Amino acid sequence: MTERTIRTALISSDRSFREMVKDVFLAHEAWTAPAIEIAAPFSAFGENELRQIRQLHPEVIVLDVADEPEMGIKLAQFLSEANPGLRLVASGPQLPNELLLAAMRAGVVDYLTRPTTPEAMTAAVERVRQLLGGNTKEGNKQPGALFAFYSPKGGAGTTTVATNFAVVLHRLTGKKTLLVDLDLELGEIALLLGVQPRFNFVDMVQNFHRMDAELLASYIERHDSGVHLLSAPYQPETAEVVTGDEIRKILMFLRRHYDYIVVDTAKSFSPATLAAFEQADPAFIVTNVDLASLRNIQRGLPLLKRMMGRGEDHIRLIVNRYNGASDISLKDVETTIGLRVFHTLSNDYEGVSRSINSGRPIVLNGDSKYGADIQAMGRQVTGLKAKKKGAKARLSALSAPLGRLFGRGKAEEATKS
Ligand SMILES: Nc1ncnc2c1ncn2[C@@H]1O[C@H](COP(=O)(O)OP(=O)(O)OP(=O)(O)O)[C@@H](O)[C@H]1O
Ligand SMILES: [Mg+2]
Repeated sequence: MTERTIRTALISSDRSFREMVKDVFLAHEAWTAPAIEIAAPFSAFGENELRQIRQLHPEVIVLDVADEPEMGIKLAQFLSEANPGLRLVASGPQLPNELLLAAMRAGVVDYLTRPTTPEAMTAAVERVRQLLGGNTKEGNKQPGALFAFYSPKGGAGTTTVATNFAVVLHRLTGKKTLLVDLDLELGEIALLLGVQPRFNFVDMVQNFHRMDAELLASYIERHDSGVHLLSAPYQPETAEVVTGDEIRKILMFLRRHYDYIVVDTAKSFSPATLAAFEQADPAFIVTNVDLASLRNIQRGLPLLKRMMGRGEDHIRLIVNRYNGASDISLKDVETTIGLRVFHTLSNDYEGVSRSINSGRPIVLNGDSKYGADIQAMGRQVTGLKAKKKGAKARLSALSAPLGRLFGRGKAEEATKS
């Protein structure tokens, strides 16, 4: 890590907080104290304070939002817009989810809930300095896109589609792709990929205070397909201690290191599932065409919609095991649930089971109807419309704007691709 001076500002009207932060900086031999210190409360924030900040053009701001969190996050947003590349470490009371998400979007890379400790502040500042240090290219880019996969009904095929989708995403675009198994109690992605992870998500939680790019790399399992995996723990009871806040923080951290994060969740409305929905863009709900599945989605959807940080129109419905032979049509599905069908995936019991039993995702096993459906879905999500082969396809995938497609969700478009 570089030891160059990083232009830092400290904003807090709380003297003891300012002292703590300064002590943290001074105790670290490679750091210099914040270049400016602003003690004005937000209500008294004026041209004078803004001028000081403008003149410094800070790379890092430690921002105390304890008094007025909402105002503090607005200030973070304002400062980030005025200082491209700015990273903030914020601290204050436990925030409601929407505000925490707004903070993240405003460039807050770490949020320390009060009461905080010098150790937590040291770890946060260390992390943000590493992001800026130039030794991680990843540190300087926009957070990666997070795709969450969920079904309120067990056995819908969620894990299979999430795993294969991640492989396709990486193969189509060549971008850094991480699968995160947030079915923390009984996650099976490692089995589907045929790997035996040495570390898992709970190890990540327990060591997050010293997490950096290097440590992250040692926690990640690399699959032959090029996809990385952060696995669920093997023993379900290990996951009991993990909180929603910890999961949120880790997802934010991971998004700064990967272009795509594909998250598989359990069928429960666990903190892990809800944290994934908060950050998902989009979230995919997987269903089969039967009444029990549709009913479960009907019941769970209002909660999931509320959890969607990007808004409820960023939820996409996937119909799995679809063979067109059911009494219930896709139109019925759409009417019952109130969502358009984004994609259908073919019923392929033999192909899918064989791939799971052999620990090799079906999209790597040559031609299969299910594999082709996942490919089509990957192309739709990444913006690769037509099926192209070779370098040309790769190139257009790299330049395809993701966002443009997310607004779409028409059933006709979905099913024809
Ligand atoms: N399109 C499909 N056609 C046929 N069988 C499928 C299909 N998709 C998944 N399956 C089968 O359904 C079973 C459950 O799949 P999977 O584990 O992906 O579901 P899940 O929703 O993640 O389940 P859980 O609730 O246990 O997490 C597996 O045995 C798999 O082989
Ligand atoms: Mg599963």
